[in-house]
Amino acid sequence: AETGCLSIIVLGASGDLAKKKTFPALFNLYRQRFIQSNEFHIFGYARTEMSDDDLRSRIRRPIPALGFSIFLCYICLQSGLLQMKYTSGSYDTEEGFRLLDKQISEHEEAKSSADGSCRRLFYLALPPSVYPVVCKMIKLCCMNKCGWTRIVVEKPFGKDLESAEKLSSQIGELFGEHQIYRIDHYLGKEMVQNLLVLRFANRLFVPLWNRDNIDNVQIVFREDFGIEGRGGYFDEYGIIRDIIQNHLLQVLCLVAMEKPVSLDSEHIRDEKVKVYFFFNAELESISVEPIKDEEVVLGQYHGYRDDSKVPDHSNTPTFASIILRIHNERWEGVPFILKAGKALSSKKADIRVQFKDVPGDIFNCEKQGRNEFVMRLQPSEAMYMKLAVKQPGLEMSTVQSELDLSYKQRYHGVTIPDAYERLLLDTIHGDQQHFVRRDELKAAWDIFTPLLHRIDKGELKPISYQQGSRGPAEADELLLRAGYVRTHGY
Ligand code: BG6
Repeated sequence: AETGCLSIIVLGASGDLAKKKTFPALFNLYRQRFIQSNEFHIFGYARTEMSDDDLRSRIRRPIPALGFSIFLCYICLQSGLLQMKYTSGSYDTEEGFRLLDKQISEHEEAKSSADGSCRRLFYLALPPSVYPVVCKMIKLCCMNKCGWTRIVVEKPFGKDLESAEKLSSQIGELFGEHQIYRIDHYLGKEMVQNLLVLRFANRLFVPLWNRDNIDNVQIVFREDFGIEGRGGYFDEYGIIRDIIQNHLLQVLCLVAMEKPVSLDSEHIRDEKVKVYFFFNAELESISVEPIKDEEVVLGQYHGYRDDSKVPDHSNTPTFASIILRIHNERWEGVPFILKAGKALSSKKADIRVQFKDVPGDIFNCEKQGRNEFVMRLQPSEAMYMKLAVKQPGLEMSTVQSELDLSYKQRYHGVTIPDAYERLLLDTIHGDQQHFVRRDELKAAWDIFTPLLHRIDKGELKPISYQQGSRGPAEADELLLRAGYVRTHGY
């Protein structure tokens, strides 16, 4: 691993994302000694005027939810073991950034290692509208003179293909792709990272993972709460931009991609992007069929418009179920159903792979349902396989049962790291495997932009559903039409 003075600069340090995700992740990495205090310094930057101490107490506030470990880090901060400085300034003028650079440089001079190398990581916990100007200021005032400079950005990366490409070009003119880390925190989840291992390190799955054996795939995200104070943001984006176009589509790519040549981050991302594209001589064509109206169900929960920031006639979906079809040799004819919703009956995310019926069934297993392989991403990470087994006892009858690998039981006492911790550590190590490359981002917008524009224009309307329900009944009908056979417990 690289050594040398490490400066992590959190821009938007006074905001919610920094408080809830960035700082706790940094503290946890520090606590677990993944980053060493003698070389590590946190710099906070935002418009709000406040002192270093103010920032410390602001960060301290969410502690109850995060536990004792963060409290210990706070003590380290207070005692000076862990160092943090705050600078206030605007995002579009040089003054504040020059001051920030001066502070980072002073720290680097004091801490520089024998070879003089330093590392600067800028984390933009900011709205994307200011990304271009902030990147410009960093480039102008804060570049590292004796080591790397990296930029971490969060979604939403644009609102459609055009705006995303514009944003990518603006940042791309200032920084190389190897310096830009686009976070999709789903790529930092344990079970999502497990997908490659499961698929390519198990002989059991290798021959089964295709259209000959798999009937349909569902990737589902449910939350049991509504937009809760995020009405302004959410109404502008909606569930497709918030969850499906990024988180679920990333998961889809990992489920559907071919085996990469190696675990090199470029090899993996090359294969992911090929799920969307076939490179055919000079012709670049999309392998995911355009989305059909009859394969989309949109929903909006009853009471959504009561939020003060949501307009009375909002057409924004808080639920969507969409079928994607991939036209390649492995997946032709297999529907991928991406489903996400807010204010539903439960909070969970899973990948559900349903296999075809057994040809020439002599047990009448059909009654019991099909084989399914389910990966529960959260909560309580697990994977299980639904199988038909003989009903124990004297009679010869079948019953559906499960081969069950629940992480809590199997890996008792092992803490599963938060996605942000993992991804932040990757940015420090320079590993881009779990970050979205520019071409992936473009392809993802390519798929959803026509549908999103139609929704924005009001040409497709969400169906109202009750809070705490499964979402619109039409979504269940769509699932059955796609060929899903209901199994026990779903
Ligand atoms: C975010 C969305 O990207 O992911 C939120 O903006 C959503 O609306 C969140 O609640 C879900 O993340 P997780 O890790 O709790 O599934």
